[in-house]
Amino acid sequence: MVNKMIEVVNLTKKFDQKIVLNDISFTVEEGDIYGFLGRNGSGKSTTMKAILKLLNFDSGTINVLDNNDIRNSNAYLNQIGSLIEEPAFYPNLTGYENLKIVQQLSDIPTENIDRVLEIVGLTATANKLTKKYSLGMKQRLGIAIALVKFPKILILDEPTNGLDPEGVREIRELILSLPEKYGITVFISSHILSEIEKMVNKVAILDHGKIKFEGNMQKLEQESTLSIATDNMPATESLLTAKKYNFIKTEKNIIVNDASSEVAIAVNKLLVGSDIGVSDLHLVKHSLEDIFLKITKEA
Ligand SMILES: Nc1ncnc2c1ncn2[C@@H]1O[C@H](COP(=O)(O)OP(=O)(O)O)[C@@H](O)[C@H]1O
Ligand SMILES: [Mg+2]
Repeated sequence: MVNKMIEVVNLTKKFDQKIVLNDISFTVEEGDIYGFLGRNGSGKSTTMKAILKLLNFDSGTINVLDNNDIRNSNAYLNQIGSLIEEPAFYPNLTGYENLKIVQQLSDIPTENIDRVLEIVGLTATANKLTKKYSLGMKQRLGIAIALVKFPKILILDEPTNGLDPEGVREIRELILSLPEKYGITVFISSHILSEIEKMVNKVAILDHGKIKFEGNMQKLEQESTLSIATDNMPATESLLTAKKYNFIKTEKNIIVNDASSEVAIAVNKLLVGSDIGVSDLHLVKHSLEDIFLKITKEA
């Protein structure tokens, strides 16, 4: 059975009279690294804050862990670690000391501090004052603080924000290891798709407070086209039309929409079986970026 870790149902939030979250629904399941995508101001942080009870919402339901309606209890918060917007630390304390404060306040085993420092790669710099940390080190310390209780759910709000490509890669590898190694489910937001594309298995795309897409990465990968060139283009067209493929013609190729590897194999067999010489047949995958732009443009 798949366990629902976070279930958001018809969530609506207004600030003053302005609707910021407009009836959004999505489900994060156990073991997911779930990407929450959207431009700045689309409502990502607001959603995360609602899940964490950092703000009230107007209507809808949020269930966390085994269908617990968060309005009925605060206990679920012990099972969630979070990093929302900018990480905040005591600048005149070291990374270790900052973690120590969190550990003591929440009654967490002391050895967790060294464990998380190791996981986020801050062991060597744990005794440096955090005001001297680079942005990447600060982000990693923020993740360490969110992780130190080894929660069931980790909520990370734009943890790759402002990092260089190397920093993004490090955070990605760290996050990728969490579900399998520690049984942690991750809910992570970003406004830069390429930064989370390679680590998430599911995504929701938020645009002006509405979910425009929710699904797994395979579903997104179906957003591919198949480019074909043959020695008999008119016959190719007739065959594709007869088989009801949705395609367009360009100068040199036929482009089949909604393609997948299965479609590529079927079309190849169809053409070769009809004695048509195939000179080129390849799938063109559209990046999440293209899809994101398409989805948000249709609004
Ligand atoms: N405390 C607040 N009061 C009024 N408006 C807010 C407040 N917090 C956020 N907003 C507005 O809500 C919208 C969504 O913000 P936010 O959730 O921070 O977006 P994101 O995290 O996707 O960038 C924005 O238009 C923002 O200006
Ligand atoms: Mg935000």
